[in-house]
Amino acid sequence: AVERTLSIIKPDAVGKNAIGEIMARFEKAGLQIVAAKMLQLDDAKAGGFYAEHKERPFYKDLVGFMTSGPVVVQVLEGENAILKNRELMGATNPKEADAGTIRADFASSIDANAVHGSDSAESAAREIAYFFETSEICPRG
Ligand code: CMP
Repeated sequence: AVERTLSIIKPDAVGKNAIGEIMARFEKAGLQIVAAKMLQLDDAKAGGFYAEHKERPFYKDLVGFMTSGPVVVQVLEGENAILKNRELMGATNPKEADAGTIRADFASSIDANAVHGSDSAESAAREIAYFFETSEICPRG
């Protein structure tokens, strides 16, 4: 089925000037970027996005990292988009990411891991709505 998923290009990858290369991987895999914007997150916006991790030991560092520089948030649309994006990203920990994945090529640690992608249809709906108004999403049909 055609799905939408939220992708974030994190501050480490933006800092490496890799926005275009990462977006190209999505497009080459057949996903369309139907919404995109660059944002500087603050503690409240980043903390709210990762609210489900609030009790985890890495939460404070995660919010600190996600506010350390600009991010690019995008909505990707396409057949099986949620799983396809997760395959393109590779494992959360870049040491475990398959060769040729975004995290294998651009991430340096489990914190600075280049990209985020929704992990389920429920997360995708919530995460897309967290960053985008319906009017900001531009499907091309
Ligand atoms: P992301 O997909 O953005 O979701 C939560 C993030 O927390 C994850 O990517 C990692 O960058 C970060 N993180 C740090 N430590 C861990 C951990 N032990 N397990 C999972 N995520 C972690």
